[in-house]
Amino acid sequence: EPGRRRRLLDAHGVAEEFYREQLLTPQAAVARTFLAERGFDRQAAEDFGVGFAPQGWDGLLRHLRGRGFTEAELTASGLVSQGQRGVYDRFRGRLVWPIREVTGETVGFGARRLLEEDSGPKYLNTPETPLYRKSHVLYGIDLAKREISRAKQVVVVEGYTDVMAMHLSGIRTAVATCGTAFGADHARIVRRLVGDAGGAGGVQLAAGTSVGGEIVFTFDGDAAGQKAALRAFGEDQSFSAQTFVAVEPSGMDPCELRQARGADAVQALVASRQPLFAFVIRSTLDAHDLRTAEGRVAALRAAAPVVAGIRDTALRPEYERLLAGWLGMDDQAAVRRAVAGA
Ligand code: CTP
Ligand code: MN
Ligand code: MN
Ligand code: MN
Ligand code: MN
Repeated sequence: EPGRRRRLLDAHGVAEEFYREQLLTPQAAVARTFLAERGFDRQAAEDFGVGFAPQGWDGLLRHLRGRGFTEAELTASGLVSQGQRGVYDRFRGRLVWPIREVTGETVGFGARRLLEEDSGPKYLNTPETPLYRKSHVLYGIDLAKREISRAKQVVVVEGYTDVMAMHLSGIRTAVATCGTAFGADHARIVRRLVGDAGGAGGVQLAAGTSVGGEIVFTFDGDAAGQKAALRAFGEDQSFSAQTFVAVEPSGMDPCELRQARGADAVQALVASRQPLFAFVIRSTLDAHDLRTAEGRVAALRAAAPVVAGIRDTALRPEYERLLAGWLGMDDQAAVRRAVAGA
């Protein structure tokens, strides 16, 4: 029902404005300090629509009621939660980022805890609502879409602060998933923007005919980031645009990197991207001691299924050759046999 959708969008518009005004209040000093410590000035906060959800249970609730929204509309919006003794503000004492559609309409919020003594998770998002589906939303897509289409590149980072740090470092193609893994629905959205016809049903274009741009996953160098990259591997193959991974060896995320080493280091991180297949295969090799024959053979056994999983029949032999080189094996036939038998 379009009228209802409009009402929910309007509620989000009002909430966004409310949060933004709250960021200027004395109570929000903790939020302004957080932003300043992250290297985000007032202009940056404004550009990204960052706001503050005040402490207390009904600040937004009362504001929205005053604007004529019904309790049913408010619970449907996800902006308030339903408790045993009534409804109350979902986000309290948190920094909030508006999450927008490609069209620029706000459909939800991501919210970070600001006080260590606060209970609850570090990040809290809008729940699934008629407007907000976490498997579809990409934080920053509204700001990045133009540059994604122009540069035929999208950079996927982990967090809201990372998107801000990327944009402020000159990487204006950055977006983030919102508390979930990058999935097929996200891929479909960015594929459309980079002009990638996509392999409908996972059909791979012939090598060298890739019409799309590139997707770059930038993950923390930590174990969770590695896992996320490996998970993305599963999504890669229906994506005919080229897929890359950029890993910061220090384990710093883009926000931390910008603070510690500046915009140049953030740009260098993106420039250091490697093809996803190369990254996955080399991560597999890292677990083995390639100085011994036993180690090399074990590494070959571990990496062979990855190479065997490359559907592009022109690309697969390329990776067999690369794998032989990474293993320090002169015998490429042995690698081909291992891949064929994997
Ligand atoms: N996340 C989440 N719930 C959590 C932790 C993380 O939804 N409890 C999501 C958030 O979208 C977050 C992203 O995962 O932005 C990356 O997590 P993390 O690296 O832990 O957070 P940062 O964005 O680096 O946050 P900060 O620097 O503020 O600690
Ligand atoms: Mn008010
Ligand atoms: Mn992390
Ligand atoms: Mn961080
Ligand atoms: Mn992080």
